[in-house]
Amino acid sequence: MANRGTRKANAQRRAKSGTSKKWVADSRDREWFDDPAIIYDRLAARRVYYQTAVVGIPDEIQRIGRTLDRSNVLEIGPGHFPFSATLDSLKVTFLDISKGILQRNQEELRRLHEDPRFRNATTANVGFVHADARKGLPQELAGQHFSALVMNEVLTHVHPKERKAFLEEWARHTDSFMIVDRHPTPTAKAKKRPDFVSGHEIKDELERLGFRVTHFDIKLVQLKGKKTPGGRDWYFILTAKKQH
Ligand SMILES: C[S@@+](CC[C@H](N)C(=O)[O-])C[C@H]1O[C@@H](n2cnc3c(N)ncnc32)[C@H](O)[C@@H]1O
Repeated sequence: MANRGTRKANAQRRAKSGTSKKWVADSRDREWFDDPAIIYDRLAARRVYYQTAVVGIPDEIQRIGRTLDRSNVLEIGPGHFPFSATLDSLKVTFLDISKGILQRNQEELRRLHEDPRFRNATTANVGFVHADARKGLPQELAGQHFSALVMNEVLTHVHPKERKAFLEEWARHTDSFMIVDRHPTPTAKAKKRPDFVSGHEIKDELERLGFRVTHFDIKLVQLKGKKTPGGRDWYFILTAKKQH
């Protein structure tokens, strides 16, 4: 009885949030790595608000984000929330593989100043680029160099085998990084999940690429949306600066 009750409660929760069992299954394999645009175009079209760690811990993430040089920020994979626009950056470019997400962000940005948390955000110079970040700097951004590259929960979509090359490529185009992602929960099963990103591995790789890690934290975050049964997930938050 208890199991049936739980199954029913889960189904009701999924129906309410617009997600499905199938989405969870897909997300772990084909679409998650090969074509994430499918997932996010679908979410944007359904207007599902995909609650994130960034939204769950805005004060801390914002405080850390404000330590970056924000004169020319590139944010890859903003999802449903144009985070870097809340950092009072002089210039921000949002790059995403999903057209739906970029459209949604343009709308969100218009509403941003109505949110009391971001009343003081002053970002004025904002651009949007539709591209697959795994292919490196797109033509529209040719010749640009960024003061900071922000990516929150994006490496999770880059296959573990491709993550080092991905970082190496983007390290050429930025003076600093801010990376937030889902760190494996401390269980053997979770450590094998390819969608989790080891904060330690990312830290080591950035150091190898000549960056000095300026902030590194791994923490259990209470999410407002419920990705996990307890509504909590492990995240790492990292900033790093290029050593000239
Ligand atoms: C899990 S969401 C994270 C959204 C947001 N940054 C946050 O923390 O809530 C992943 C985002 O990255 C984008 N994305 C995934 N793979 C990408 C790629 N190869 N190039 C550009 N954007 C990508 C997705 O479209 C989506 O907007």
